[in-house]
Amino acid sequence: MGFKHTGLFPEQSYNWDLIRQTIKEAKREVKVLNLFAYTGAASIAALKEGAKVVHVDSSRGMVDWAKENVKLNNLEKEEIHFLVDDVRKFVKREIRRGNKYDIIIMDPPSFGRGSKNEIWNIENDLDELIQDTALLLSDNPLLYIVNSYTTGLSKIVIENLLNLYLTPKYQGKVISAELGIPMENSNLILPCGSTIRWERN
Ligand SMILES: C[S@@+](CC[C@H](N)C(=O)[O-])C[C@H]1O[C@@H](n2cnc3c(N)ncnc32)[C@H](O)[C@@H]1O
Repeated sequence: MGFKHTGLFPEQSYNWDLIRQTIKEAKREVKVLNLFAYTGAASIAALKEGAKVVHVDSSRGMVDWAKENVKLNNLEKEEIHFLVDDVRKFVKREIRRGNKYDIIIMDPPSFGRGSKNEIWNIENDLDELIQDTALLLSDNPLLYIVNSYTTGLSKIVIENLLNLYLTPKYQGKVISAELGIPMENSNLILPCGSTIRWERN
């Protein structure tokens, strides 16, 4: 999520900046769900603005690293719950519990493993995950972000999923951009995937 955006987003709408700005402007308690949360950069961006964060990753090592990053940013006093779990199982449990979130962020890999070795395959599993997470959005959601690094998975496919499962229920729009790393001393950009977001109008 620290990549350069190319395409549709203006420079100021980097995902981490957007997460912070959205929370700041909400001027209310904001609950954030960070899935495939890795070393926690998006969680930290949200904590910095005082949001309550639930951080889920199947790798204990990654969750320990994220905890360390929270400490290094002096944010231990903020409210964050770390879960070592399979994202799909966690989301289904949250639906049963009736928990809701104002912001959902996910950074799914092409292939991965849940905490009990459940196989994650973005092409098979993303549709159901987006459908399920749409049920976790609060009545007044603020933002929903999916990043994809999967070559060959068109961002239009993910836009379509957000338009199918979010747009009919919540007033907002779906936009997307490609992600890339600018090369030094060059105007060339290394393509890295795409970022697709639903945001309020
Ligand atoms: C943030 S993504 C990494 C993105 C990276 N650029 C790539 O393409 O692989 C991967 C994270 O998702 C986690 N992960 C993979 N499968 C998972 C699953 N089924 N449930 C929860 N976390 C999972 C991994 O432990 C890892 O921290």
